[in-house]
Amino acid sequence: MKVGILGSGDVGKTLGKGFVSHGHSVKLGSRTPDSEKLKVWRKEAQGETSTGTFSEAASYGDILVFAPLGSAVDDVIGLAGAKNFAGKIVIDTTNALDFSKGMPPGLFTGLADSLGEKIQRKLPQAKVVKCFNTVPNSRMISPGDKTAEMLICGNDAEAKHKVAQILKEFGWAGAIDIGGITEAKWLEALVPLWVRAAVSLNSWNAMFKVIH
Ligand SMILES: NC(=O)c1ccc[n+]([C@@H]2O[C@H](COP(=O)([O-])OP(=O)(O)OC[C@H]3O[C@@H](n4cnc5c(N)ncnc54)[C@H](OP(=O)(O)O)[C@@H]3O)[C@@H](O)[C@H]2O)c1
Repeated sequence: MKVGILGSGDVGKTLGKGFVSHGHSVKLGSRTPDSEKLKVWRKEAQGETSTGTFSEAASYGDILVFAPLGSAVDDVIGLAGAKNFAGKIVIDTTNALDFSKGMPPGLFTGLADSLGEKIQRKLPQAKVVKCFNTVPNSRMISPGDKTAEMLICGNDAEAKHKVAQILKEFGWAGAIDIGGITEAKWLEALVPLWVRAAVSLNSWNAMFKVIH
């Protein structure tokens, strides 16, 4: 697959490496595609990688990973160009963490909305699947527990099936599909709780797992 990654933070870099290590080709998008950190990323990732603007990465990918800072969602969609998302699976990793009152964070969307829903509203022709937002980047590829399943949601059944296949490639047991994109608010609400647990455990590698 040709994968466009929109985001040059830990999530974009980690998932980019993950896709490359499983034989896919990746273009990672950023406002500064020629930065030193992305040169290092390309060297480490090996395989078929390139970097570009958000717009170049969005038009490159048959499938897209959307991984900007939560408060930059509008800006990045604007820079990437809505038409470049049309008809594509968009794996949305974003969180609406609000640190304006310090630690621990709240949610700047409140509980009546979410970034997943907002992204789907802004990109009605895209197949948005909320995925990876509830786990730390250190566990996104090879989570370290062969029975762990990822919580996902989205409106398009085929897109969710494809994302579940990708999760298996990455070492997850599979996905727990909690429903349509309106459920994204509950996946995003898990994350302020996760921060509290991680602080208490003093481990950013901590992860929730559903036992059943
Ligand atoms: N870190 C984790 O372990 C983790 C885990 C689960 C979910 N998440 C969520 O996944 C998303 C990515 O997280 P992250 O830690 O990888 O990176 P991040 O620091 O949250 O975001 C970095 C990306 O946001 C872009 N960005 C920031 N401000 C911008 C602006 N004003 N206009 C345009 N672009 C802007 C940056 O663009 P440039 O490339 O141009 O600098 C960069 O690509 C976040 O929503 C986060 O909450 C993170």
